[in-house]
This record gives sequence, C-alpha cells and structure tokens, in this order.
Amino acid sequence: MKNNINDSNDILEIYDNEYKYDQENFLNYADKIKTMNQEFERVHGRKRTFITKTYGCQMNEHDSEKISWILGNMDYVETEDINEADFIIYNTCLVRENAELKVYGNLGALKQLKRQKPDLMIAVCGCMMQREDVRNVILSKHKHVDIIFGTHNIHKLPQLINNNIQNNETVVDIFEDGREIVENINSNRKYSYKAFVNIMYGCNNFCTYCIVPYTRGREMSREPENIIKEIQDLAKSGCKEITLLGQNVNSYGKSLRTNYSFTDLLKDINKIDGIERIRFMTSHPKDLSEDLIECYATLDKLCEHLHLPVQSGSNRILKEMNRKYSKEDYLGTINKLKKAVPNISITTDIIVGFPGESDDDFNQTLELVKEVKYDSAFTFLYSIREGTKAANMENQIDDKIKHDRFQKLTNTLNEIALELNQKLVGETLEVLVEEVSKNNPDVLTGRSRTNKLIHFKGDKSLIGSIVNVKIENVKTFTLEGELI
Ligand code: SAH
Ligand code: SF4
Ligand code: F3S
Repeated sequence: MKNNINDSNDILEIYDNEYKYDQENFLNYADKIKTMNQEFERVHGRKRTFITKTYGCQMNEHDSEKISWILGNMDYVETEDINEADFIIYNTCLVRENAELKVYGNLGALKQLKRQKPDLMIAVCGCMMQREDVRNVILSKHKHVDIIFGTHNIHKLPQLINNNIQNNETVVDIFEDGREIVENINSNRKYSYKAFVNIMYGCNNFCTYCIVPYTRGREMSREPENIIKEIQDLAKSGCKEITLLGQNVNSYGKSLRTNYSFTDLLKDINKIDGIERIRFMTSHPKDLSEDLIECYATLDKLCEHLHLPVQSGSNRILKEMNRKYSKEDYLGTINKLKKAVPNISITTDIIVGFPGESDDDFNQTLELVKEVKYDSAFTFLYSIREGTKAANMENQIDDKIKHDRFQKLTNTLNEIALELNQKLVGETLEVLVEEVSKNNPDVLTGRSRTNKLIHFKGDKSLIGSIVNVKIENVKTFTLEGELI
C-alpha cells in the first residue's frame, strides 16, 4: 500500500492496490458524513444539496445513479440548480476529444462559483480520471477541485469526502483496474418504469481507436444470481423495462466459473414476472451468436431492436480497427436476424475518417448503410485518443474531408430512416409511456419495442404504462400517432 501525501500542493494521493471493499468500513464513513450533514441541517435549516453532471455513455449515466444513491444515504438531497448545490460531481467521458474539452470548459467556469462559495465541494470522476495526464491537468489548472476518483472506486466516495473534510486537501484516489465487483451499492434511478442493470464491466477488445479498455479495465461479469435478484427487486417496485449494460454483452459469462452465457441470462430474465421488455447495450458483431438470434425469435420480452456497431463498411479499415469481423460476416448476421425477426430495427455506430480511410473505403461504408437500412445511427468523426494504437497511425485524415464524408453519411442515413418510418404509417405500435413532451404539455412521449420515439396526445397519468398508438405522421427521428 502506498499513501503518498504531497504536502507542498496539499494533495492527498492514494493509490491503494490492496484495497478490498468492506461494507462495515463503507457504512462507518457514510454514517460520519451523514452526522455532519444532519448537523449542517440543524444549523442552516436545510439539507446539503448535490448535483451530478454526466458525460458519455449509459455506463456513466448508471454510475451517476449509484453516486446519487450513495449521497442520498448520507442525507444529501439532489438539486437541479448548479448554483445552489453544496456538492458538484462531474462524471466524465474520454471517448472523443469534444467530450473531454467540454469537461475542462465547464470545470473552469466553476472557479468563480467556488470563490463565491468556499464551502462548495467539487468532485471529478469517471473515465477521464483514469488517465494520469488528465489528473495532472486538473491538479495544476483546476485547483478548485476537491476530490478526484475513477471508474473502479465509486464505493469509496464516503471515505473520500471524509478525507477531504478532515485534511482539507485535494483527495486523489484511483484504482488502475477493476479488481472486484462490489454488489452492495444500489442506484437512485431516474425513472421507476425503466432501469439500467450492469451485467459486466470493462472491455478486452482493444479496438485500435478506442480508449474505453484503458478507462474501464478488463472484462468482469457479475454473478447471474445477483443480476436476477436486482431485476426481481426492480420488477417488484413496478419496473417494466430493463436495459442490460456492458461494453460487449455477448461475451458475458466468460469470466465466470460456470458455463452460464448471455443467452442463458436472457432466458432467465424473460421468466421474471412484471418485466415486460428486455433491451441490452452493446453487442460486438464478432461475438453475436446463433443462440442470440434464436432468442429474438423465442423470448417474448426481448425487444425487436439491436444496436450493432459496424464502425466501417471497408474490410481493410475494419482490420486496421481490430474489429475481427468482415463486412460479409456482418451482413450475414444482419440477414439471419432479419429472417428470424422481420420487423427488427437495427441501429449502429459508425466512425468517419479513421486513419487511412480512402474515398473508396468510405463509399463501402455508404454501400453497407444502404444495404442494411439502419433505423438510425450514431455517427462520429474519428478523434485521436492518446494511448491508443490508431493515434500513432500515419495518414490521419484531413478535417475537411472528414466533415464532407460525415455530411454525406448523415444525409444517406436520414433518407433511409425516413423511408423506414414511412412504412409504419397506419400501424399500431406498443408504446411504453415515458414522459410529457418538453415542447407541449398535452403530448406524451414514449418508445416502441423497436426503440422508436413516439409522440401522442394523452394524460400524464399514463406515464409508466404500456399503451397502443396508431401511427399517423412520421419524421426522420420521431413518429406521431393517436392513442387507441
Ligand atoms: N462498447 C461499445 C461502445 C463504446 S464507445 C461498442 O463496442 O460498441 C461508443 C462509440 O464511440 C463506438 O462504437 C465508436 O463508434 C465511437 N468511438 C470510440 N472511440 C472513438 C474515437 N476515437 N473517435 C471517434 N469515435 C469513437
Ligand atoms: Fe471500445 Fe471496441 Fe471495447 Fe467497444 S468493443 S468499448 S469500441 S474497445
Ligand atoms: Fe465515455 Fe467512458 Fe462511456 S470513455 S463512452 S463514459 S465508458
């Protein structure tokens, strides 16, 4: 164990490689902070407040729900107004440069707030913090940050808050890798009727452009009984839809001692009363099994939607990306899926401008997009991530070329999305009602099993229930209909 106290900068850095989660320890620290917060309430006549600002993927969103739960247990209450908060937590993402720059910009803006409110506590966590160079930037340029922690040690938050208060030092605590799965941290979920559930952590794939394996560590699967118990509890509290989370859900189970696989898990979840919809994110095409395709045909709760990131339609680029499948493999999988589930909606991720991508490579991506006919796609300009293999590749693509290709791709995707949506006019879709539309208080929004966003008129008492909506008008990204 190395406890390195750097007095000159008032920074307490802890890189404790032997730390194991100990619930008693967690509860002791949580109790200590809770007592402090109760004293604060007695003096000020209000509870201490917190706000989490989350960047990046669902994994981060769900981690923020865990942070909210930990803070709620220590008598903090959530606020929506950052200027009012006593504790601000930035949960950061490193996947592309723009995600990173946003965090630096927003952190800079907090300097003034901290000057006005010296008791304000600021923590930064998440994927960016797993990088030493990023931590050093925060420590040198953003000295108003009080606590820095990473993706593997959220459960240490009570202890880190305590250390910061007791020693009045910036606390830096990072685990280089996930070494254990901590099961005792619950989540304050944003919605009662739909929930994210982690089934695995980390990624072993090392796609050459991607920083995630360096920020989330190696693959580790949760024990099936813990996942099932969590979903049973969610079902008892009225949850209808669950989204299973993992960077590569198809390889779920590989780190378990038994032969239990992702499809075994789907089959067991399908039996849980009360759960009506099962989704998952994300699948890697190289690991998508025949067994999973069969699940779509046989499990009634598994929604007819698959997010299957293709990244590129050129075999040469796919190889350079270390994706381990060819365009032909990918199209073969899509065709089997479409045969098994004719109304399945398929979405994807595509990177434009990977190093060395030629016009011909890009045109092959366009061709693949036209052949698959994606319902929608997340498209990204390739972004250099220091530390990944692709960052050192020659032939980085000029920005203007990247942007032109991006625009062409977006136009093609939008045309296809609209064309597919037009086929839905007159059909009745089952919709899980999610919320009142932000633009019109009489309109509700929800999602079909195929994950289409649907607007329709209705009373807000319907939120959380499953209704039928007849589709009348369609746009590229949304459908409009009438409740029937
Ligand atoms: N584990 C998931 C998603 C990880 S990140 C998966 O494998 O699909 C989400 C998406 O961000 C990726 O699918 C990829 O399209 C994109 N992405 C990752 N690194 C990127 C980079 N350096 N530049 C641009 N896009 C990137
Ligand atoms: Fe990144 Fe590839 Fe892992 Fe997805 S599978 S998280 S893209 S390395
Ligand atoms: Fe970003 Fe980390 Fe997710 S880098 S995409 S928040 S796993």
